[in-house]
Amino acid sequence: MGDNLILSFRPDLKIKEEAGKIYLQSPVRSLVCQRVSRGLRQSMKTLTAGGGSEDFLSELAFKEDGAGGLANFYYHLQQFIERGFISYNVMMEQEILAIYTPFSGAPLFNEKPFKQKRRYRLSRFTYSRRDGQEIILESPLANGRVVLTHWLAAAVLHLLAEACTAGEIRTQFPTLPKKSLQLFLELLLSAGMLEEVDDAGISPGEGDEVLQQWEFHDLLFHARSRLGSHEQPVGGTYRFRERIAPLPAVKNPMSSERIKLYRPDVEKLREDDYPFSLVLEERKSIRNYADKPISVQQLGEFLYRSARIKELIKANPPAGLLYEASNRPYPGGGAAYELEIYLAVNECEGLAGGLYHYDPWQHELEKLSTRTSEVEGLLKYCSAAAGLKELPPVSLHITARFQRVAWKYQSIAYSVIQKDVGALYQTLYLVATAMDLAPTAIGSGPAKLLCRMAGLNYLEESAVGEFILGNKRI
Ligand SMILES: Cc1cc2nc3c(=O)[nH]c(=O)nc-3n(C[C@H](O)[C@H](O)[C@H](O)COP(=O)(O)O)c2cc1C
Repeated sequence: MGDNLILSFRPDLKIKEEAGKIYLQSPVRSLVCQRVSRGLRQSMKTLTAGGGSEDFLSELAFKEDGAGGLANFYYHLQQFIERGFISYNVMMEQEILAIYTPFSGAPLFNEKPFKQKRRYRLSRFTYSRRDGQEIILESPLANGRVVLTHWLAAAVLHLLAEACTAGEIRTQFPTLPKKSLQLFLELLLSAGMLEEVDDAGISPGEGDEVLQQWEFHDLLFHARSRLGSHEQPVGGTYRFRERIAPLPAVKNPMSSERIKLYRPDVEKLREDDYPFSLVLEERKSIRNYADKPISVQQLGEFLYRSARIKELIKANPPAGLLYEASNRPYPGGGAAYELEIYLAVNECEGLAGGLYHYDPWQHELEKLSTRTSEVEGLLKYCSAAAGLKELPPVSLHITARFQRVAWKYQSIAYSVIQKDVGALYQTLYLVATAMDLAPTAIGSGPAKLLCRMAGLNYLEESAVGEFILGNKRI
């Protein structure tokens, strides 16, 4: 590798010395070095201040500690590499072309032998974005991340959209030293961002039946919202705590035109309801509606039993509750209850057609519009998704107030929201079954149309689920 590959400590590694011990801490791993020799200390200083080649670092250790110090140096270097403390800098004369920082526990750099005559292409999962003041390269399949420090690195990536050999790249960029280019390609291979293609022009990713069925965005979402494929914090980190106030549990009123809804007698329901196992066994999607439309009283009972706020819980920081929470009939991540329900009403006895928002605290509908062509658009979309010949009596459009969840959770906010939608769907299904209604969940729907109709900011609140409902045909 020689002087073209410089090893350094990753920039976010925290190092402190106390009582003769050196403590190293990355975002995910730590190490305590005891009885640090002069040579090792020199090597660590160099790794912190710009780095050095492996040969240079080992010579430092040798000079200070003698031959015995070399084993100690290599032992520690191995510890640093395994913990993901080391960044690999590909040099181009005095400039850095790119920096690769493997995750802790990733396969060692340079494990995959690069072949001069073979053709390589970027994996379709590799992508580039700005992070702070850097352009970085990431992939849900990657073992680490790459910072593109020189424009030539980005230019090489452009060529790698098509399969090519290192030689073909060099003919385009003759000023790029051969060794630097080779190291850059080896680094991308090790990172899992580049793939070799065979003589037929097929890469393993393309031939693999499992990988073929992963779409880019699904795999990225999966990798980034679970542990193990990245080094970002995961869970309730409250990272906006000092800067942004959490949203209240209940939205501000959306309309002055309000309709009080029927409240069923829950005590009576406890006695008269179908038994739980019957409801569970009978639950199914029903897409056939009775001639008699669903009534506003049924709608009131349905929403009360599935989605009302049973209790508002004030924020109580000393007790660890940093935001206002609530209790509802369905479970919700962090008791944040970010989901809101909008109703597009086609036909409902006692309720004019139009668009409504459900206020789960007052148990009231807020009228947002009459039955416009856009309201019909929402109903039509659901009708098509469920394969209906007519419009459903009522469609529910479930939105998320994203920042209710994102204020608390890091890496998992959107996945928590999707799970919450699932929990609400099942509750809507069970309540509809207990009420002899016809329920069907819908898999996808328009997010921006509802924003326009209800005056929502897409990034603050937009649709994440749909559900259709009516009286079932017996
Ligand atoms: C997340 C989710 C999305 C769904 N999307 C649709 C849909 O777009 N159209 C539809 O007709 N049914 C949809 N369904 C209903 C399923 O087709 C149905 O639950 C499944 O076929 C099992 O049948 P069952 O509900 O009668 O037990 C969806 C269900 C779920 C849970």
